Amino acid sequence: MEPFTKDFKVGECEGQKVVDGETMPLVLQPPAPENNDVESLILALQKNKDWFDQMLLKNSAILLRGFNVQNAEEFNDIIETFGWDDIRYVGPAPRTHVHKRVWTANEGPLSEFIYYHHEMVLIKEYPKKVILFCEIPPPEGGQTPFVPSFRVTERMLEEFPEAVEELDAGGLKYTFTAPSKNSTGSMRGRGWEDTFAASDRAEAEKKANALGMDVEWLSDGGIKTILGPRSLTKVFEGRKGRRMWFNTMVGMHGKENSSALMADGTEIPAELVNRCEQIIEEESIQFKWEKGDVLFLDNLALLHGRRPSLAPRRVLVATCK
Ligand SMILES: [Fe+2]
Repeated sequence: MEPFTKDFKVGECEGQKVVDGETMPLVLQPPAPENNDVESLILALQKNKDWFDQMLLKNSAILLRGFNVQNAEEFNDIIETFGWDDIRYVGPAPRTHVHKRVWTANEGPLSEFIYYHHEMVLIKEYPKKVILFCEIPPPEGGQTPFVPSFRVTERMLEEFPEAVEELDAGGLKYTFTAPSKNSTGSMRGRGWEDTFAASDRAEAEKKANALGMDVEWLSDGGIKTILGPRSLTKVFEGRKGRRMWFNTMVGMHGKENSSALMADGTEIPAELVNRCEQIIEEESIQFKWEKGDVLFLDNLALLHGRRPSLAPRRVLVATCK
């Protein structure tokens, strides 16, 4: 596959890294100043659909910059160019539907750091692609850093070869609790009614089971979901046999409303979790959002998160199969 096409100019961005020979993110810009509009972009994408797909697989992240993408409608038109199927978000993040396939990204307080994750990592069917559009760039902070997942596995294996293989083989068990939307005093997270788009317990239980989770009801009306054991790493087709760090150990370990434990229910050694957190941070790639940026992430190869930010910040998202 040719690394370049005449329909795009390859650019650069702050924070870009070369990982295992690939530039992340690959920055694609208009080939000439007069092509800096969405219509030209869509024509270029239509012509280079297969190429784009290959480049996304190769580089794991592509940033389209300089095309003056203005709003959710235009963002949706860009996504629909590819013909990828939509996949509906399931999870704890508060999101609002904006237009067709476009939703707001996490609407949790901007002061919070949303920890690195593969989108919907614990659910049976997760999106292959997470696509983000920056409508309003934050005045400060608010980056969407991402992390080559295979680098985390490689570095963890260098430092804890036996423990990591053991955890991978035995798997991790996760729990997650969500209040009821009728519970009082719950400020964090959404109620289980919204998480599972369910109006009663039976429906929530059925949906949780379908996603591969067991359910316990709590005395305050909340729900506790139990998952696993799940392996620590995964290898996906077409990705050079790389072992992805496809788990949420650091994100869920020892938190107020979640846990990540060994398969037998014992604690994962704190040293391992803490070191993993450092490695993920060290391997992270971050760029500064510019208005109109569209970022494509290979969700099977990258973890992503959100840094705390000052208002206003508006980043929209679509997830595809
Ligand atoms: Fe996410």
